[in-house]
Amino acid sequence: MNAQAATPSAASAAPPLALLCGASGFIGRHIACALRAAGWQVRPASRRSAPAVDYTRATHASDWQPLLQGASAVINAVGVLRDSRARPMQALHADAPCALFEACAASGVRRVIHISALGIDGGGPAARTPYARTKRQAEERLLALTAQGRLDGIALRPSLVFGAGGASTRLFLALARLPVLALPRCAFTARVQPLAVWDLAEAVARLAASSAASHAASHAANARPLTGLLELAGPQPLTLAAYIQQLRASQGRPPARALALPACITRASARLGDALPFSPWCTQSLHLLSASNVASPAALPELLGRPATAPAQFMQALAAAAQADAPGVRKPQNGRDEGGAP
Ligand SMILES: NC(=O)c1ccc[n+]([C@@H]2O[C@H](COP(=O)([O-])OP(=O)(O)OC[C@H]3O[C@@H](n4cnc5c(N)ncnc54)[C@H](OP(=O)(O)O)[C@@H]3O)[C@@H](O)[C@H]2O)c1
Repeated sequence: MNAQAATPSAASAAPPLALLCGASGFIGRHIACALRAAGWQVRPASRRSAPAVDYTRATHASDWQPLLQGASAVINAVGVLRDSRARPMQALHADAPCALFEACAASGVRRVIHISALGIDGGGPAARTPYARTKRQAEERLLALTAQGRLDGIALRPSLVFGAGGASTRLFLALARLPVLALPRCAFTARVQPLAVWDLAEAVARLAASSAASHAASHAANARPLTGLLELAGPQPLTLAAYIQQLRASQGRPPARALALPACITRASARLGDALPFSPWCTQSLHLLSASNVASPAALPELLGRPATAPAQFMQALAAAAQADAPGVRKPQNGRDEGGAP
């Protein structure tokens, strides 16, 4: 791998600018902090940024051109778990990102880091979900433009991400407080490999920096930044049930009694979730959880230059981060930033 640089470029005086799509989201907020810590200016783009950027409308390359002015890198961390009329996956996961990648290629913004997801290919039901199908479309376009030499694109496929503000983290922490864990059978068989959001964010900042550094030293033999598909997983594969038990143990609680729900109850509860638009639990999430979501643990520490955070350390690290976030300490900003669109 070639992503050792921790700062964008020693050679350039003005801080480089990154367009960060999804800067108001769980992963995006942490990426914004990591980018700023590494010396980047961040131009946020989401429906809450100024100007607002709505992926349901930004589906042509020309919609993106003004937002790319002055940018050295683009990070896309926009996504949804539920398909809906207000937030259709086809536009959010495929049409708008593909238009953004085309605009980057046309404008000469070479470095594009796209947050995709682990487990979206293969032949199982998870890969046939609209989530997986639309995510693959964006990846394919990014990789095609990269193969044509028009971009230095990298699609990151994280496993389950843990951290403050994550919807799944909230759900698993709530389950970890219960004395009885009644979970779908797949939670005892399929494995996940959770990674900490701060590790993911730092990896993204390093990948962005490696590009900026390689441009500054464009005559160096190893100038090309890392491109292609990269699966990112934490150090430990474990079933969802074991993960929740581990979160519980880190809270100082004894193991919960664990029960596998009958398949008919699991399916019925998922269908009930289908009817509740804001529920993260639905038939699609059941399909996504039914397949193992694991990958080599080597990529993350190699990018970070240190061991990745293990699930057993998540709670402690979260508490330390909450303390650092106490009044007086700078917190992630939600939509507006120093790198506002021109
Ligand atoms: N969390 C995980 O465990 C995990 C694991 C693997 C992969 N991923 C992927 O990582 C990405 C980010 O996930 P996340 O957990 O950070 O999600 P999140 O907290 O729900 O954030 C989603 C982001 O997308 C933006 N967004 C939603 N609708 C939009 C629209 N119509 N136009 C423009 N922006 C829109 C949101 O901003 P506004 O609402 O302000 O517009 C927000 O910034 C997703 O692609 C997800 O699939 C997440």
